[in-house]
Amino acid sequence: MTSNHDSSAPASPQGNSTAPVAIVTGASRGLGEALAAEFIRAGTPLITLARGRSSTLDTLAKQHGTPLTQLQADLSTPQGAQHAGEQLAQLIPPALSRCILINNAGTVEPISNSERLGNATAISNAFTLNVTSLMVLTAAVLRAAATTDCRILNISSGAGRNPMPGWGVYCATKAAVDMYTRVLAQEHPNVRAAALAPGVVDTQMQHVIRSSDARDFPNLARFRGLHEHGQLASPTDTARLILQYISRDDFGTTVLDDIRNYS
Ligand SMILES: NC(=O)c1ccc[n+]([C@@H]2O[C@H](COP(=O)([O-])OP(=O)(O)OC[C@H]3O[C@@H](n4cnc5c(N)ncnc54)[C@H](OP(=O)(O)O)[C@@H]3O)[C@@H](O)[C@H]2O)c1
Repeated sequence: MTSNHDSSAPASPQGNSTAPVAIVTGASRGLGEALAAEFIRAGTPLITLARGRSSTLDTLAKQHGTPLTQLQADLSTPQGAQHAGEQLAQLIPPALSRCILINNAGTVEPISNSERLGNATAISNAFTLNVTSLMVLTAAVLRAAATTDCRILNISSGAGRNPMPGWGVYCATKAAVDMYTRVLAQEHPNVRAAALAPGVVDTQMQHVIRSSDARDFPNLARFRGLHEHGQLASPTDTARLILQYISRDDFGTTVLDDIRNYS
């Protein structure tokens, strides 16, 4: 994993222990990038994690003078997730007024009928990215920022709550995210945590879904129709709703939630 500090930013997140810090995984594109952009516009020091990095976020951070650290990490391997957790813990100032972690990185693949779902590596990578890395990064934040106003938002999916043929792996990982978040909320009543379904958002993930094989994904026509009829939410609109949501006084009181309840 490499660390990329934006030299244009006035200070790293370590520089001011009284400022809130936000952490967003999967911010190189899609919903995560839109969430990160909103934090940058709000002036909230930000740490992001993904394999790639976003030049859009670099430019925005420079424009707004917001501290930004983009960590490059492969969260689909145990080693990558472990190293990312260690690196993240080192970047979190010990006495924070407020810490926000949004575990957003995820994959919908492999999309496959269960009888063809035989690639153990692909399944394992998806579970490591969607579930294991989320737990490891949460642990890192809990240990490093235990005394702060700590808000943890795990990006889940309606697929974790309703079965979808062809999405055996994706549904199982998001159901795991939901249950893990419920456990986290019970263990740590001082930490506000929620698992949020973001709706159907116009990102690369939707492109992957629309490109899947109808033999593996019987709902293909429905998803293509949503796109054709302009019924996907924009990442920016969704990110704005999510930032309002995570700032609410009652954030965390509903542990399993859906952003469409607030639009
Ligand atoms: N879009 C929707 O309609 C929808 C609906 C329900 C839930 N969600 C959830 O929303 C979240 C964001 O999805 P999205 O639609 O924005 O997807 P996306 O456009 O595919 O973006 C996924 C993000 O995750 C990162 N990522 C993927 N593999 C990674 C890896 N091995 N290590 C580290 N980071 C990795 C990607 O960065 P790199 O490739 O650079 O690593 C990217 O930044 C996901 O948890 C998804 O399940 C999306």
